[in-house]
Amino acid sequence: MKYYEEIVKNRHSCRKFDERRVETEKLEAVVAYHNDEESDLVDEIVTELRFYDESAFDRLKDSVGYNGICIKAPHYAVLFSENKDHYLENAGYIIQGITLKLTELGISACWLTINDEHAAKDALDAETDLVLACVLAFGYRAEDNDEKNAPKISLDELCLGKDFKTEVNTDYFYHELEDCLRAVAHAQSFQNLQPYRMLVDVDTVYLVGLPTEMTNHYDEHLNYGIAMFNFYSVMWAVRPSAPRWSFEAPEHDLKLPDDVKYVAKCKI
Ligand SMILES: Cc1cc2nc3c(=O)[nH]c(=O)nc-3n(C[C@H](O)[C@H](O)[C@H](O)COP(=O)(O)O)c2cc1C
Repeated sequence: MKYYEEIVKNRHSCRKFDERRVETEKLEAVVAYHNDEESDLVDEIVTELRFYDESAFDRLKDSVGYNGICIKAPHYAVLFSENKDHYLENAGYIIQGITLKLTELGISACWLTINDEHAAKDALDAETDLVLACVLAFGYRAEDNDEKNAPKISLDELCLGKDFKTEVNTDYFYHELEDCLRAVAHAQSFQNLQPYRMLVDVDTVYLVGLPTEMTNHYDEHLNYGIAMFNFYSVMWAVRPSAPRWSFEAPEHDLKLPDDVKYVAKCKI
């Protein structure tokens, strides 16, 4: 499917940016997308998206970026959010929408781990009662950027059947569903650990989280939101009336091991 092949599959994180700024019209297109499209997961949660220029690097470098390394970029998108149930999944979902919109516009991006949300918020002088939920570095990829593409789990590795103890034959997936699931397998995750699986039943898919000691609470839940957006965006490209993800309990026992968490479900 075009959206999966050209946008989702073509997106790769960028850690070396060109210094030039993104054109104002493109930044406006991102803001218009954010304002106009239905791009959040939990409607009730108030969020605020702000853009910062390259001068934010010096302010963020001590509190943002894994392994103590913040990425220098001409722009940063920062999402502030109300701290309510599922706010991190919601924030991950929203910023993943921005990431894929940037990809459509030929602009690259990289998520940044927030090591100290209070320090990062103070450093940005962000006068808001909302909490800092996500930071994304973005801009044009440097011409001499020779980053390799991150390896991704296969569809067979990602998918199980109606519960965690049942296997599934991925050859029987219809084409659109296969692309939605491939979009999950291609999603960004903290250090590319991809600590989740999809259970695929006849009319519903379930996202479940695998144990991962290396991923902190924030990135774990942002990962889920990113995976959910990737699935939804590919579904939405063919079926704008596609059902949305729900955090309600599953209809049947998913037979999850004690250390595997149920996250959310989506009708297909
Ligand atoms: C929540 C989250 C936090 C991340 N934090 C960082 C980071 O601090 N530094 C970095 O270089 N990459 C970071 N990444 C990017 C991942 O390392 C990257 O998505 C992964 O290696 C897969 O590569 P891909 O995005 O090219 O598919 C983060 C990704 C996510 C989803």
